[in-house]
Amino acid sequence: MTRPAMETRVVSIPRGGPSLGHFDDSKGSLDRLELWHIEPEANEAVVALQPAAEHLRTKDTPVAFPTETVYGLGADATRSASVKGIYEAKGRPSDNPLIVHVSDLRMLRSLLGDKGGGGDDVIPARYKSLIRKFWPGPLTILLPNPDPSPLAPEVTAGLKSFGARMPSSPLALTLIKLAGVPLAAPSANASTKPSPTTAQHVKDDLDGRIEIILDGASCQVGVESTVVDGLCDPPVVLRPGGIGMEDLRSCPGWEHVVRAYEDQSEEGNAAPRAPGMKYKHYSPRARVVLYESTYRAGKDGIVAADADAAAVALAHTHNHTHTQSTNGNSHKRVGIIRTKRWRAAAGLRCNDLHLSAGRGDDHDESSYEVYAGDLQNREGNVIGEVFDISLGQDIKRIARGLFSALRELDRRGVAMIFVDGIDDDLDIAAAVMNRLRKAASDIRA
Ligand code: TXA
Ligand code: MG
Repeated sequence: MTRPAMETRVVSIPRGGPSLGHFDDSKGSLDRLELWHIEPEANEAVVALQPAAEHLRTKDTPVAFPTETVYGLGADATRSASVKGIYEAKGRPSDNPLIVHVSDLRMLRSLLGDKGGGGDDVIPARYKSLIRKFWPGPLTILLPNPDPSPLAPEVTAGLKSFGARMPSSPLALTLIKLAGVPLAAPSANASTKPSPTTAQHVKDDLDGRIEIILDGASCQVGVESTVVDGLCDPPVVLRPGGIGMEDLRSCPGWEHVVRAYEDQSEEGNAAPRAPGMKYKHYSPRARVVLYESTYRAGKDGIVAADADAAAVALAHTHNHTHTQSTNGNSHKRVGIIRTKRWRAAAGLRCNDLHLSAGRGDDHDESSYEVYAGDLQNREGNVIGEVFDISLGQDIKRIARGLFSALRELDRRGVAMIFVDGIDDDLDIAAAVMNRLRKAASDIRA
């Protein structure tokens, strides 16, 4: 099904002005989150957000907006036509349920069938310790979907529960509040691509497919929210994300939370997977080779066998693999994403590594540098180019830069990306490794 292309507007929301709004800090615990108040002083940013809020209320094409995790592709969660617009723009299968974003607890309660006027709280007791500690923020909780429900059926894909999240991005909270409706929002990438952390990433994927991209706050977390189900016992983590397992376990009722997701490397699949078995998820165009932190590759990084394999692969790579590279150079290219262990060039035979012009996108919080150098074969002949990105040692910074780095290397037209994996800890590192294992064609474990 093809639709006529639409004109995509990137709307800049002023930054650095007064805070867009606030919760009621004078109130204790949960009551604090009852209402998000828009700040009258933030008028300039609010005026800039109004047309998007109006669009969300009245039109059926989704609006891309920043959250603290990744950019979301939002639509009025109460109207079928607008929710269908999300699936259409993303090319996403409609059996995958969407997360519902709320501005405050009052909005959440209205989705749970609360008519107001007191009585029992409709928010399940199990979630209160989590909400108190992690909302607003990168945590999605599963809630029972009432029957009848205010949510469009397309949001839940036929399930009896829905996922809800209160983002911490003031821009996101204010947009939801101005729209006056909860926003169903998946990540604003084309289906199978790495999630977007800048407005430019969204434009790269969805130009001509949506009408409005809000360019405002940056994505501080860089990976998606943690999804938990506390309606079962013991409670489970369905997707690792911005809030780690250890943090969840510190909350009453969540001491025994278990993981209910599987990573590639846990399938007894230590040997490199066959080419072609690539999971179409979080994937750049390039072939990703992931080195688990348990893999002893020597201090430099990439093992000689892989370096040789890369050289051979590049020799057979046709130029079409980098048609979208930023210059017309017909060199073959490989990318490296370094984290804690590897040194520059990571053991590839590489000459003259130098700071390369681009540094990622404007407003890209990840702010890593891209280095470029010549790739040589055993005989010392130049056979291509190496692009080397270091995300540093700090796990939060690694998470923030991960998707952006994968996209940046795609933009440079690399055919392969070697990645230095990190310990799969109980913190945000679990989310980083989960995404990398899904993106990888080969895993060295
Ligand atoms: O950080 C995030 O969560 C971002 C930003 C935009 O908020 N959103 C996001 O949405 O990552 P999406 O659609 O890409 O991922 C939603 C995840 C999926 O893994 C989906 O299966 C799960 O949440 N999910 C949503 N509702 C569910 C439900 N009722 N039952 C089980 N899983 C659900
Ligand atoms: Mg997604």
